[in-house]
Amino acid sequence: MNKVLLYCRPGFEKECAAEISAKAAEREVYGFPRVKDDSGYVLFECYQFEDAERLVRELPFDDLIFARQMLVVGELLRDLPQEDRITPIVGMLTGVVEKGGELRVEVPDTNEAKELTKFCRKFTVPLRSALRESKILLNYESPKRPVVHVFFIAPGTCYVGYSLPENSSSFYMGIPRLKFPSDAPSRSTLKLEEAFHVFIPADEWDERLASGMYAVDLGACPGGWTYQLVQRSMMVYAVDNGPMAPSLMETGQVMHERVDGFKFRPPRTNISWLVCDMVEKPVRVANLMTDWLVNGWCREAIFNLKLPMKKRYEEVTQNLAMIEERLSENGINAQIRARQLYHDREEVTVHIRRIWAAVGGRRDER
Ligand SMILES: C[S@@+](CC[C@H](N)C(=O)[O-])C[C@H]1O[C@@H](n2cnc3c(N)ncnc32)[C@H](O)[C@@H]1O
Repeated sequence: MNKVLLYCRPGFEKECAAEISAKAAEREVYGFPRVKDDSGYVLFECYQFEDAERLVRELPFDDLIFARQMLVVGELLRDLPQEDRITPIVGMLTGVVEKGGELRVEVPDTNEAKELTKFCRKFTVPLRSALRESKILLNYESPKRPVVHVFFIAPGTCYVGYSLPENSSSFYMGIPRLKFPSDAPSRSTLKLEEAFHVFIPADEWDERLASGMYAVDLGACPGGWTYQLVQRSMMVYAVDNGPMAPSLMETGQVMHERVDGFKFRPPRTNISWLVCDMVEKPVRVANLMTDWLVNGWCREAIFNLKLPMKKRYEEVTQNLAMIEERLSENGINAQIRARQLYHDREEVTVHIRRIWAAVGGRRDER
């Protein structure tokens, strides 16, 4: 199998393709992307046969911004016979995957493909049995073994392959399923919740999203993001000229500051979190976030870079490079990650965690 298949948000195939081409080339993996607009996926075809596996092993999935999932696949299977779709799929995986830990029969995240999901659910059961009989799958689910993916792009037409559980998304179709909390003031609450799931390991939530922490939410109204912080029992400075949801103000955990988010300065020294969803030019937001981190005004930040422009991949990479450069110039060691989340539209979400800052030649751990 010489292809890497990446799932992405429909409409962002070019960004996903530019990203995989650049990051593969950095690892001296050469090939070319195949892109179909609005398809919800990108295929990266490697010139060297073994490079597809090398890429999904060596390119950290967490480094990818526009991909929701990353796997190795073979040639497209077309015209699967209705009376036996299973045999060609088993044939394709024989000698490629052994003792897989899970089967996912998936589709692209498009309206046309959604019509295939019912079929996928039904088809999973007999296919799983056949894969177990052929020893391609273990007889039980194992989170440590490769995941077998069958990706239907049309009826009777699919890619077949596998992902490595330690370097891929653990979610079906690469999409975390989150339930909209009925008492949240806006749907964008799910963006911040998803960001927590994607950027912060579950076993670190109690320490890093702890009750009693202070947070600042720039561009907070009506309060979807503040809601998430309040749910974690934090105290929140909600900065926005607009109206905040009364239900949030009634909690007593929210201080509404009707000022410009670019001028607001932290009223105390123990702010743990800065979050920002202001609709503004990415470079302005990126610089503001960097100011906060350089000045030690917060420990971690989650913010969106809105991308209404044409050159979206370049815009994101330039801003991330600028942030990295400014942090490094100021002696700040930080983890930076960016991802176009499922709940993001024309935007990406960035997470930065300050690890330590060099102070007069020594490390100031915080
Ligand atoms: C997309 S909405 C935020 C939605 C919010 N995150 C939620 O979940 O409910 C953007 C908000 O940013 C605010 N905003 C834009 N520019 C701002 C600025 N310079 N200072 C403060 N707020 C700003 C707008 O008033 C608007 O309420």
